[in-house]
Amino acid sequence: MNTHANNWSPASWRGKPIRQVPEYPDEQKLREVEEKLSTFPPLVFAGEVRQLKRELAEVAEGRAFLLQGGDCAESFAEHTADNIRDFFRVFLQMAVVLTYAGGQPVVKLGRIAGQFAKPRSEPTETRGGITLPSYRGDIINGIEFDEAARVPDPHRLLQAYRQSAATLNLLRAFASGGYANLEHVHRWTLGFLKDSPAAERFREIADRITDSLRFMRACGITAETTPQLRTTSFYTSHEALLLGYEQALTRVDSTTGEHYATSGHFLWIGDRTRDPAGAHVEFMRGVKNPIGIKAGPSMTTDDLLKLIDILNPANEPGRLTIITRFGADKAADGLPPLIRAVQREGRKVVWSCDPMHGNTIRSANGYKTRPFERVLSEVQTFMQVHAAEGTHAGGIHIEMTGKNVTECTGGAVQSISEADLCDRYHTHCDPRLNAAQALELAFLVAEELAQSATRRAAAE
Ligand code: PEP
Ligand code: CO
Repeated sequence: MNTHANNWSPASWRGKPIRQVPEYPDEQKLREVEEKLSTFPPLVFAGEVRQLKRELAEVAEGRAFLLQGGDCAESFAEHTADNIRDFFRVFLQMAVVLTYAGGQPVVKLGRIAGQFAKPRSEPTETRGGITLPSYRGDIINGIEFDEAARVPDPHRLLQAYRQSAATLNLLRAFASGGYANLEHVHRWTLGFLKDSPAAERFREIADRITDSLRFMRACGITAETTPQLRTTSFYTSHEALLLGYEQALTRVDSTTGEHYATSGHFLWIGDRTRDPAGAHVEFMRGVKNPIGIKAGPSMTTDDLLKLIDILNPANEPGRLTIITRFGADKAADGLPPLIRAVQREGRKVVWSCDPMHGNTIRSANGYKTRPFERVLSEVQTFMQVHAAEGTHAGGIHIEMTGKNVTECTGGAVQSISEADLCDRYHTHCDPRLNAAQALELAFLVAEELAQSATRRAAAE
């Protein structure tokens, strides 16, 4: 097999330089836990992963749009059915808005059911003169600022696996058990959003969908006869940071003999761990899943092309998504050289925009926040640059929640000021868009998609 010819194995990353590794005091215990995990059932299945790759290939060809979103970091403490359901509702609303406007399928990919490990800019954190190891996500250590909590604990890998399994179980039920039925499109609006302008706009679309469904019913097409109307496909993703966990959940698919990461359908490499010679790239080159690479201002065209060569040597559409995260001010200059290099080399990729990670600031009162207008502005720049380059603005990648949190400033519904941030600031890591902001963003993207749909129609 190809990967073997290139000396790849699920463990070959262990021989490469690695960044962002936690220091476990008990390495032996870690090995035992990884052993145990490697005997557990896979969380996702190779057939589903291949289906996602086919859907992403449609995005790469300009015929579909990718919506990827969820928590910055999932937490053990907030693992409730309500949180998952509310996230799923807003996510479906966003997807409907985008599908309706763009007239194209929307690939639905959650940052969920495995998004636990966090890269950190600083290895330690100091508060009130005390310095402790940084919090690295619930799969590694605890968020509490105390010495014992911050020690990496191997048992957390097992808890992350179990939580991912339970979350996936609920998501599968929502996606296929009737919750996502388009005939219920009016029911997805969350209570606290009901009187907002975004909800009003959503109602208009929902009314039109309901009308179309009534017409189709008269023609004999119903949710009973057409499963696409009553179910949806929903996939999971996370950053492949903790490679011991990823290795333990890598399986050989019996039908093809190929290796798949089974911790989630789609994995990505973070902006801090994308060294072409490093461990994270080594691990990812051998698994067959669709994968992403984050690309920030420090990404050179040389490195990007090198990474594409290593990670997608067969130029398979759908395999690779480039998730750009420049920051609102840098995208207009940073993006075109990357796009042109990829076009010049004829490489098939999905271009997606993460408007979150380049727009993080600290508020005057000490909160890590993101001004919503900068988030919108980066998405707009992304779409304009792609329109100018003649490439497909394929998707967005956002940190969001279905809850009414106050983590990013701005937004039309209830404009959040810096002073409001302390009201409901719940994130375990980076600030997320709340439900209203997420929906507002979807409407903005929808306007851009509607324009490109008009351009497409005119060209036909
Ligand atoms: C993230 O997606 O949460 C993240 C850490 O992103 P990046 O690697 O782009 O900084
Ligand atoms: Co983040």
